[in-house]
Amino acid sequence: MADIKSTETAPNTIYLKDYQPPIYLIDHVTLYFDLHETQTVVTSNLKVRLNPDNKQTNKALLLDGQNLQLLSIKIDGQELTQFVCDEERLTITSVPEECEVEIKTQINPQDNKALEGLYLSSSMFCTQCEAQGFRRITYFPDRPDVMSRYDVTLSGDKKKYPVLLANGNLVSQGEGENGKHWASWQDPSLKPSYLFAVVAGDLFVKEDHYITMSGRKVLLQVFVEHENSHKCEHALISLKQAMKWDEDTYGREYDLDIYMIVAVNDFNMGAMENKGLNVFNASCVLASPDTATDADYYNIQSIIAHEYFHNWSGNRVTCRDWFQLSLKEGFTVFRDQEFSADLNSRAVKRIDDVNVLRTHQFAQDAGPMAHPIRPDHYIEISNFYTVTVYNKGAEIVRMIRSLVGNDGFRKGTDLYFERHDGQAVTTEDFVKSIEDANNIDLSLFQNWYSQAGTPELDVTTIFNEREKKFTVSIKQSCPDTPGQKNKKPFHIPLQVGLLDQDGSDVLLELADDSLTSATTQKILQLKSEQQDFTFLNVISEPHLSLNRGFTSPVKIRQQHSNDELAFLFAHDSDEFNRWDAGQLLAINTLLDLITKVQNNGELAIAENVINAYRNTLTSRELDKSLIASAFTLPSESYLADQCDVVDTDAIHQARKFMRLELARSLQSEFKTVFNNNQSDAAYLFEAEEMARRSLNHVCLSYLMCLEQEETLNICLDQIEAAHNMTDVMSALTILSHYDNESRQRVLDAFYKKWKDDAQVVEKWLSIQAASDLPDVLTRVKALMKHPAFCITNPNKVRSLIGRFCAVNIVHFHAADGSGYEFLTEQVLALDSINPQIAARLLQNMSRWRRYDNKRQGLMKQQLERILAKKDLSKDVYEIASRSLND
Ligand code: BES
Ligand code: ZN
Repeated sequence: MADIKSTETAPNTIYLKDYQPPIYLIDHVTLYFDLHETQTVVTSNLKVRLNPDNKQTNKALLLDGQNLQLLSIKIDGQELTQFVCDEERLTITSVPEECEVEIKTQINPQDNKALEGLYLSSSMFCTQCEAQGFRRITYFPDRPDVMSRYDVTLSGDKKKYPVLLANGNLVSQGEGENGKHWASWQDPSLKPSYLFAVVAGDLFVKEDHYITMSGRKVLLQVFVEHENSHKCEHALISLKQAMKWDEDTYGREYDLDIYMIVAVNDFNMGAMENKGLNVFNASCVLASPDTATDADYYNIQSIIAHEYFHNWSGNRVTCRDWFQLSLKEGFTVFRDQEFSADLNSRAVKRIDDVNVLRTHQFAQDAGPMAHPIRPDHYIEISNFYTVTVYNKGAEIVRMIRSLVGNDGFRKGTDLYFERHDGQAVTTEDFVKSIEDANNIDLSLFQNWYSQAGTPELDVTTIFNEREKKFTVSIKQSCPDTPGQKNKKPFHIPLQVGLLDQDGSDVLLELADDSLTSATTQKILQLKSEQQDFTFLNVISEPHLSLNRGFTSPVKIRQQHSNDELAFLFAHDSDEFNRWDAGQLLAINTLLDLITKVQNNGELAIAENVINAYRNTLTSRELDKSLIASAFTLPSESYLADQCDVVDTDAIHQARKFMRLELARSLQSEFKTVFNNNQSDAAYLFEAEEMARRSLNHVCLSYLMCLEQEETLNICLDQIEAAHNMTDVMSALTILSHYDNESRQRVLDAFYKKWKDDAQVVEKWLSIQAASDLPDVLTRVKALMKHPAFCITNPNKVRSLIGRFCAVNIVHFHAADGSGYEFLTEQVLALDSINPQIAARLLQNMSRWRRYDNKRQGLMKQQLERILAKKDLSKDVYEIASRSLND
């Protein structure tokens, strides 16, 4: 039995059912920051008022606070001596119904390595307040349902911090004593404390402007360190695209006169939507063709949009409590996904998003961390910024749109934004707006918010030739998840199409369907455990294309032969399902190979599978990016999820064999495609060019399985000649898996060239962490001592340690337990530095029960070792204890 902490020392669990409105509201906050690296003094003035909506009899003023040094408190000008102050909060029992509270605290930004609250990142001050970081700046009811107006003044050394920023508009500035200067900012909007931000530093600013749909001019500013002045262009273009798209698609206009984005090097997440003052991880905003890849450009465009979209979905309409996180994150991810789909290739975007969902979210749903998109309890909310809340949350919103249609959805969101502007609300409020605007009932649909787990559909079909009827029978079920047994049925929309023998779409006529218009696609609505859908006037047995575009986040079990899959892979008019048929074909092939590896059987791939791939590679109609996606075999971790007991070595060998066989059989085709796709045009971030580059990468990586000498030279040339980072990284990645004399030489030269560019150094680390070389762990450990690495910088930790554990699964799961021991040491070290990052890393070991007995024992032992650490953070405690207790 694990040494689980006794109930006295175990951290508190917070429950959704215990929600109470705040006792006091804060209408107005005035903050004065006397900035200093190790002793910043914060003076806060709060206009406090009793909340009429709170019915509790206990009327204490509860102010959260963490790591603060309290200097003084005054109520209505009088020094207060009667209060209780502990590690977590300040409690004042006798408070007038309306009063002014003044609190002085001192904090140490330089020592703050958790990167929550006010901290220093490469000699600039910045803040991160979501979810509960504001309480590390001053005592405050740090919860999203307390919304206030903020006036902020920053004072600091003018030489070191010439730029002083806060939310809203700059209202005045001036010179102070001792080389100091100050600036006062006013944010006219009501906001929760988690959207508060300040920044101070010596920064370059790149400016632009945007004219909104009502004709207002908004100043756009991107603040970066001086050496990054050439990397701001793409962010500004993306921001303008996002502003336009939200006007066109949702009718949403920006509300302030200024929109600022700041790039910082040390950041726990990707970016943060603080009102009017977004703070970005430098890697999610800076780009130039020679340092950023297509994937970086793509990611920056979507994350800039994501944070911008929060201005409506999150800031103006915010969350009542943190259980509602998906209200803003799921909806905003859905919005950024649609934005990217509209601006680039829709099919590629859908494939990428579904890949993320299936590999990470389905895995989470099937493990000890499974939780509904609206969790009902947590110990540390930071642990619930998950693929479930984000990506499954986005799928739930997408299903709602499928059910009400595009126009109905827009009516619903219009009502939602209008009804709740300036409020802190719940996911029920969101669904209610959609229901009211469309006059429909989504009560059954609500189960998606409260139940965890991935629903499974068993699908069978019957064709009645005489009656010309085709019947699809669907049975749904959902596995138990921790704390949730015997789930209720889900309301599942499924887009469906039927293909005839030539592969053409058939006009659909559904029995019991009031909609009679002739279409080739329909949405089936599954609402009970078992349901039949019958199509009429079907002349010959059709091919079923179900869950087109991945309408619903479910697993479908359907007995498809490889021939049937090859047919759909060649013909399905739904590009997503066409790709998916190819993936299923690959999975069937790989699962078969895995069994053969385990039984020392002879490895071979059927001719019809090879032919299906040949047809795809040589197709003239298919988009290049779709061909590239088809040749990207399911990842090792996704394959692992398809096995009862994970055998990482067998998975690795099977996948390697399939790639080698495809390379052997299609060698000349790969060469032809590669040669036909060369170009020396200047770098363009544009769908067709990205497709070309990704297809080239695929060809090159397959060819490398065969002709190592020749392909190696092509890679080396490409690294020399390419004038964009995409092609350089493509070749470098391929090279990194082969131990030859050029490998180290090229990696060294690359580092020498880019050692001063943080984003490129991160790539250099992550390539090496994912390498297939047998002694990769020794190399990773050596890199931790390299000047390029820094344990307090989350990006470096993610690139090296995170990537090794998450991607290099053969070596992470080495039979001797060395990978587990390594992870544990890093988690223990990081727990005292940055608990959020430590907890994230640890999740790589949470699904230990999926492995063989020996590995299970090794992982369990390490999890117990972590739980035994003194003063373990709540973050890591929650992950370790859940992993062991499930
Ligand atoms: N609000 C989050 C950022 C955040 C969450 C900061 C929790 C601190 C704690 C932001 O809107 C977000 O979701 N960012 C994502 C990227 C996005 C494109 C999904 C991130 O940072 O990974
Ligand atoms: Zn977000």
